[in-house]
Amino acid sequence: MTLESKAKLPNENRDFDTEKRWHKSLTTEWFGQQLYVFSELESTMDVASKLVGKDDSEGTVIAALSQTRGRGRLGRQWVSSQGGLYFSYILNPPIDKAAHEVAQIGLIAGLAAAECVQTFVSSQPWIRWPNDVLIGKQKIAGLLAERQANTIIVGLGVNVLQDRQALPDIATSIKLESKAGASLDAVLNVFGARFEIWYARWLSEGFDPIQSALRFWLQGVGDPVSVKTGNALFEGQSLGVDGLGRFLLRLDTGQQKAFDQGEVTLLRPIET
Ligand code: BTN
Repeated sequence: MTLESKAKLPNENRDFDTEKRWHKSLTTEWFGQQLYVFSELESTMDVASKLVGKDDSEGTVIAALSQTRGRGRLGRQWVSSQGGLYFSYILNPPIDKAAHEVAQIGLIAGLAAAECVQTFVSSQPWIRWPNDVLIGKQKIAGLLAERQANTIIVGLGVNVLQDRQALPDIATSIKLESKAGASLDAVLNVFGARFEIWYARWLSEGFDPIQSALRFWLQGVGDPVSVKTGNALFEGQSLGVDGLGRFLLRLDTGQQKAFDQGEVTLLRPIET
């Protein structure tokens, strides 16, 4: 379903032509089969949030070609100019997976995003726990997972078509990292296809297969890192993620510490 909607979505800036074209090219089984595309929104997270409890079938996607108030983790702004792909997925997982499911779904989306980016670029993308996808030191995609009642909204911003001057120094795009580049709908499609596969595995098998797959993509496992949470800074060796999706650090004392949130920084130079 693309043109009819049970909820009152803003029709202003709705890009029906792109919506129809992207919907037609989707090869996913169910993620994105309910798709709404806008030329511009304040934030796809806010529009997705309005659909919760009304028009929130599993894998519904709100996509935008630009955002005026894109938001990232920790209250940061997410610059969302033309050329990037900005979208939010609505998911309704069983709630008995409890406290860590938002974080786990964020990591599942991170895994799918890394695999998606790898389809288009030659360098290896890395996941910086919890939700950044990097090429070298530069960010190519960022994720945000939020809970609203029993629904989880996963937002993803991918730098796709931007040139160097359109991005901050700490960011890169698929166009800058690949010869062939990628179209926005190809990115939406490949991401959705990987995301629905990993999400289905998580529903049937839990977090273990995701934890194993993440070992390949997580930046700096075994390396010295720091983790900042609020005003506290911890240093030690990265042990990757534990069975709940928390970041695991071996402190210099030998003790292990698990983090539900925080900012991880590598303490060794990154080869680019
Ligand atoms: C981060 O790196 O801090 C997360 C960035 C998440 C950005 C995406 S873009 C689509 C969705 N809408 C938003 O306002 N934010 C997310």
